[in-house]
Amino acid sequence: MRQHVNPLSKNFDEIERVPSLIEMFDDSKLNLHLDIGCAAGEFLFDLALVNSNWNYLGIEIRERLVKTAKLKLQEKKIKNLYFIFGNANNILNDYQIKLIIKNVKSISFNFPDPWFKKRHYKRRVIQPEFIKSLSNLLQKGSLIFIKTDVKELFDYMDFTISSNLSFKKIDKNYFNYSESYNPNKFFTTREKYVIMNKFDIFERIYIKSDS
Ligand SMILES: C[S@@+](CC[C@H](N)C(=O)[O-])C[C@H]1O[C@@H](n2cnc3c(N)ncnc32)[C@H](O)[C@@H]1O
Repeated sequence: MRQHVNPLSKNFDEIERVPSLIEMFDDSKLNLHLDIGCAAGEFLFDLALVNSNWNYLGIEIRERLVKTAKLKLQEKKIKNLYFIFGNANNILNDYQIKLIIKNVKSISFNFPDPWFKKRHYKRRVIQPEFIKSLSNLLQKGSLIFIKTDVKELFDYMDFTISSNLSFKKIDKNYFNYSESYNPNKFFTTREKYVIMNKFDIFERIYIKSDS
């Protein structure tokens, strides 16, 4: 099993220069989705190739994976997809990222690293402060999607997001996926593994409710 990258390491205090939306995408006015912890971006490639009416942005802390994703992006000449290397927890200090978060329609946290030991909870990507910053930046109606196969991590993420009064849970049964960032319900890389092994999947959608 791979070792998780410790996001609290000083190596990740700085992130690469984040370009503006106009520099990132062919049409910067399209709906924008942000995937946090996108690994090598296979899921985002699947989405971007089919949903030309959306822009997709992935953030990943493992530099090698981002390099691989960027090379593939050049090869395939896809203009509605972009990758940023860095620690998602530090990105909200970046001016350009703040502007971008104000424009996103949705954010996904798909199968984040679980960090099982209590003393390592601080390394989890979803933190109360991070959620607070998102709640201050996101527009009313923006969505957050979480998904994991670890029940304990799901409970922690659900508690952390729900404790912020700006976010309300959406009943999945009434959610219209066809208008979401993932209308075809593509699976992420981890999700395919989880389904193959018949593990449970825990997921929830939240909507930013006040402005
Ligand atoms: C278990 S993998 C899941 C990858 C993908 N989302 C999927 O569902 O297949 C979790 C990913 O999140 C990345 N990650 C963990 N902490 C992060 C952070 N603070 N900022 C950005 N990426 C992070 C890891 O390096 C890893 O690629």
